[in-house]
Amino acid sequence: MFDALKRYLDAQKQQTIMALFEDKNRAEEFSVQVDDLLLDYSKTQIDAIVRKGLLDVVQVRGLEERRSDMLQGALLNETEGRAVLHSALRNLDGRDVFVNGRNVMPDVQEALQRMMRFAEDLRRGRLQGPGGPITDIVNIGIGGSDLGPAMACLALAPYHDGPKCHFVSNVDGAHLHDILQNLDPMRSLFIIASKTFTTIETMTNAQTAKVWLAQHVADPGGQFVALSTAQEKTKAFGIAAERVFGFADWVGGRYSLWGPIGLSLMLAIGPNAFRDFLRGAQSMDRHFCTAELSQNMPVMLAIVGLWHHQVCGFTTRAVLPYEQRLSRLPAYLQQLEMESNGKRVDMSGQDLPYPSGPVVWGEPGTNGQHAFYQLIHQGTAIVPCEFMVAREGHEASLDTHHRLLIANCLAQSEALMRGRTLEQARQLMIAKGLSGHELERQARHRVFPGNRPSTTLIYPRLSPFVLGQIIALYEHRVFVEGVVLGINSFDQWGVELGKELAHDMEQLLRGAASAADKDGSTQRLLDYIRTTQS
Ligand code: F6P
Repeated sequence: MFDALKRYLDAQKQQTIMALFEDKNRAEEFSVQVDDLLLDYSKTQIDAIVRKGLLDVVQVRGLEERRSDMLQGALLNETEGRAVLHSALRNLDGRDVFVNGRNVMPDVQEALQRMMRFAEDLRRGRLQGPGGPITDIVNIGIGGSDLGPAMACLALAPYHDGPKCHFVSNVDGAHLHDILQNLDPMRSLFIIASKTFTTIETMTNAQTAKVWLAQHVADPGGQFVALSTAQEKTKAFGIAAERVFGFADWVGGRYSLWGPIGLSLMLAIGPNAFRDFLRGAQSMDRHFCTAELSQNMPVMLAIVGLWHHQVCGFTTRAVLPYEQRLSRLPAYLQQLEMESNGKRVDMSGQDLPYPSGPVVWGEPGTNGQHAFYQLIHQGTAIVPCEFMVAREGHEASLDTHHRLLIANCLAQSEALMRGRTLEQARQLMIAKGLSGHELERQARHRVFPGNRPSTTLIYPRLSPFVLGQIIALYEHRVFVEGVVLGINSFDQWGVELGKELAHDMEQLLRGAASAADKDGSTQRLLDYIRTTQS
């Protein structure tokens, strides 16, 4: 599928990114704007021929058909027989959306109304704990039932005017322990967020929280809320039906932040700000559905990803938000991208003849600059970087900080592209008074190869609306990449084997099963734990 583009890349090897800027219109022509969001992809090797070639691939692979299939409730998630309709959760106009001949919008709207009433009651103190108004919310969930709300709550901290939100995900008891120890049990509410209500980490943490609450309050069940599709299981846990916020199976875990799984976010920022968040995503949905492909931001972001990963062979991509409050975004995008597109077979179960999605990783700038940017600038692997930064921060009195933040962000992408030649490095060493062999030796360490690609996303300010736009942008990008690769971006069978083996291993650790059929390494590790345990 990418052979022609690979041949073109080979032929263009000598062409640097810097040289492409001899075209004075490049920055404008190789960027896309949606509302106030600007995506600049001009600091990549993509030229007009590459872009056309990639857009042709996107079309040939049937993006437009798949997109309308998705929005019309077709069962795109074929291995689970489910539709893929997270966009219905932010369809604030209420346009009909059918799944199996049934309009799902009345249920979606009712769920949103229920969440909003609940949030208002709690935020206004009409709904209280045994000790008075609720001050602390603990969201217990993992994966998509944690990363989305945790990332968004942190991102939108300036908009918090509700109870404090905590997130417990890890089955490591330390996680729950450290949060419980600072909580007032009389004024805390636990949200058990689990689509399936079977996930072992979440259920273990939920049970422990229940036991802890029972030591302090008469009716622990009254301080629980469930966000789940499994109504029978939430009932068995002891959560009253009016405290259960359900959603349909066509909302994938990693795409679920827009509905009930977003309840903690709604409690923190309030229903109005939450609606703004949905509005932002809805505006990106509209853009994705209507904009011409070359001006379509999710499509262009996908194209950049495909170019780097499939054609250039760069195996990872770094997400580098210059926004401290987006510090959980790389982890969120790791699940979104790697759980969606980390597959080894296509829709029909045949081995992929090309790599699946890339490794996604990152940290906020400027911190990353003092940690792993060394490798990005001078390492032998090329890591395409996705920078993002706000035009302005929320802290008006700290504008000197924000100027420095932007300066660093822009300087990094420039440095990656421009690099520093050996001759320039020599001149620097001469200026330092070095000469002869030492000059040559030192200069070589100071060379930056440059020609390293990056994109930059600039947004006005990290408001709920903008965060909604950004998250929906990435969701659609993952969709486009998945369509081109011909894979199911909506299942996650790769997490199952480890879960099954962990279940068996737990039995072994309890002494309830024999390790005889385990491999030598596993047996040795188990023995070590058993024999050295105090
Ligand atoms: O194990 C993977 C996974 O199924 C994710 O896809 C999901 O987001 C997470 O576990 C949590 O699942 P649940 O919401 O059902 O507890």
